[in-house]
Amino acid sequence: MRDASRYHRLLWSATVLVALAACTAQPTPPPPAATPAQEASKASVHKEAFGSTADGAAVELYTLTNASGMEVRAMTYGGIIVSLRVPDRTGALGDVVLGYDSLDGYLKSSPYFGAIIGRYGNRIARGRFKLDGKEYKLAINNNPNALHGGRKGFDKVVWKAESFQDQRGVGVVFTYTSADGEEGYPGKLDAKVTYTLADDNSLRFEYQAVTDKPTPVNLTQHTYFNLAGDGSGDILAQELMMKASRFTPVDKTLIPTGELKSVEGTPFDFRTPTAIGARIEAKDEQITFGLGYDHNWVLDREPGGGMQLAARVHDPASGRVMEVTTTEPGLQFYSGNFLDGTLTGKGGHVYQHRAGLCLETQHYPDSPNKPDFPSTVLKPGEEYRSHTVYAFSVQKP
Ligand code: GLA
Repeated sequence: MRDASRYHRLLWSATVLVALAACTAQPTPPPPAATPAQEASKASVHKEAFGSTADGAAVELYTLTNASGMEVRAMTYGGIIVSLRVPDRTGALGDVVLGYDSLDGYLKSSPYFGAIIGRYGNRIARGRFKLDGKEYKLAINNNPNALHGGRKGFDKVVWKAESFQDQRGVGVVFTYTSADGEEGYPGKLDAKVTYTLADDNSLRFEYQAVTDKPTPVNLTQHTYFNLAGDGSGDILAQELMMKASRFTPVDKTLIPTGELKSVEGTPFDFRTPTAIGARIEAKDEQITFGLGYDHNWVLDREPGGGMQLAARVHDPASGRVMEVTTTEPGLQFYSGNFLDGTLTGKGGHVYQHRAGLCLETQHYPDSPNKPDFPSTVLKPGEEYRSHTVYAFSVQKP
């Protein structure tokens, strides 16, 4: 009897436990919601080998594709943007940057096509500057000045790279350590440049650097754009707007005189959209010195810093528009004046005079010798940060 009742109690407890378990059991949970990046399943990053440099360093090519099909290919040699395919007003993708089909072209001869520029973008007069009482001498690679970081600037080194895909989009982080004394610059500089392609057809560049000795730093990007498409002729019919009431006039070696000159009444006034070719042959000393446009504009910035509109380019033929926003105070507009038909690029395209344009966000040229210009000196313990976005869209005729 006692055994029977124990048996019933056990049976009862077991039944209760099973019932309780049944009550508390949850239906199989649904899979976690996809992040926006995962939902944009068409976005992707792909890495492949892209040859090697003369000293045998392997170079890799990253292909970034966003959800709407815009595609950027960038390689570890110089962080060079090899191609950039964006839609025109009919939705057709076209490559809007100049360059070569293979690494060899870049190794042989390239006027900085698509590259990261550093340690100092643009010119330093006579390759000399003083910092904390000491004079530094750089290589003279643009007689009589130093240009774009020296003989082997950041455009000619192989960067380490790591790709990512997250809420921001798809991208690559390039890193490079420039040794103390490299190209004559003081201090070991750890540089990091992040390229991000977002689903809204914007391409973001984030530059960061730290140093162990005071050094001038001015990083930028030297992509040659032609919104009508690579190899489609010159950029003279394309319209440019630059949010700048002043520019930095230069001497005949393209070193700023130090003056911040009003653009009013000059061929340098792009405050309202104007065809690049409209005044490029004007009888103007500055145009003569630059062989066209090759100058730094002083951006009109609202107080408070941050990302602000710098420029807008519109190609009436394709409808493509590119908007440049930046944290930088200056913008070098170079109208491809040194292109002269001697370089044959992608798909056999011969790069004639003014076949592409550069809009290089930056601090002003020769700042290390111009105490009145915003300083470019980075000190130990500080972090250099600079952001620029090139956003692509289309405009109806
Ligand atoms: C910059 C310079 C130009 C020229 C190009 C590359 O834009 O200001 O003078 O050197 O790079 O050819």
